[in-house]
Amino acid sequence: MRNGKFDRSAQDLGNIINLEHLNVRVPDQQIATAFYVVGMGFTRDPYLMVGLENMWINIGLTQIHMPTGNAQAFPGHSDVVLPDLEALKTRLASVKERLAGTKFSCVDEGKTVMVTCPWGNRYRCHAPGPEYRDWTLGIVNVDFPVARGHAEGIARFYREVLDAPAGVVDDGEGRAARVVAGNVQTLTFRESDQLTPYDGHHIAIYISDFSGPHRKMVERGIVSEESNDYQYRFKDIVDLDSGTVLFTVEHEVRSMTHPMVGRPFVNRNPAQQQRTYQRGRDAFV
Ligand SMILES: [Fe+2]
Repeated sequence: MRNGKFDRSAQDLGNIINLEHLNVRVPDQQIATAFYVVGMGFTRDPYLMVGLENMWINIGLTQIHMPTGNAQAFPGHSDVVLPDLEALKTRLASVKERLAGTKFSCVDEGKTVMVTCPWGNRYRCHAPGPEYRDWTLGIVNVDFPVARGHAEGIARFYREVLDAPAGVVDDGEGRAARVVAGNVQTLTFRESDQLTPYDGHHIAIYISDFSGPHRKMVERGIVSEESNDYQYRFKDIVDLDSGTVLFTVEHEVRSMTHPMVGRPFVNRNPAQQQRTYQRGRDAFV
């Protein structure tokens, strides 16, 4: 709603405050380090999950969690904003040999770079821009392929159960449900013929009204885990009339009183090298 010179609704968020992390198992932490830390230029969380059983990777205000185990992959792609795509391509070229024989690839798409991790997770890398406001590093969208005809029902699920703004869009790449999942962040459920079975990966979101969606999900029997005081999980996105499952992806749902809310993530400046070291420029700015 425009009132005078300000469009107040342009700043509205819904109930999902933040898409905080993606979680995928990886079979090899050394290869994960070569790809995510050296190649992508992200930063290993120095405080939590610092052993070989898991690695948390910081990407601005967002994370990817990688427990050691059988490989998992998100079926579509995630959109990531990074400050310098040329530097990204150079870093990835430097790990190409180390990642030979894996699913790793890096394809220059012109405005964006599509990078595939050693186990098939795809990251579309974008340069900063007005659509990302002041974000220059972070996960800004996850794009899931869903069955034809399901976008409308999925948008309705997020609107009515999660209380998140959601609607069906056609953005040139096809019909999709788009859900507001934070400042500059979205979830996209794109109608597609390329569907793969769900392999157990998950996303984590923080929501403001914690009990309202929980009550509605309990009524429908779709809460999949009562984790603790501050967290529950669900997997099935259902048609609100028929109860039919429209799509499955585990959501770790956290309250805004969760002990980790707003946890500061350490991010380094990946341009810093021993040979060309510049004092005072170690941190990502
Ligand atoms: Fe998680």
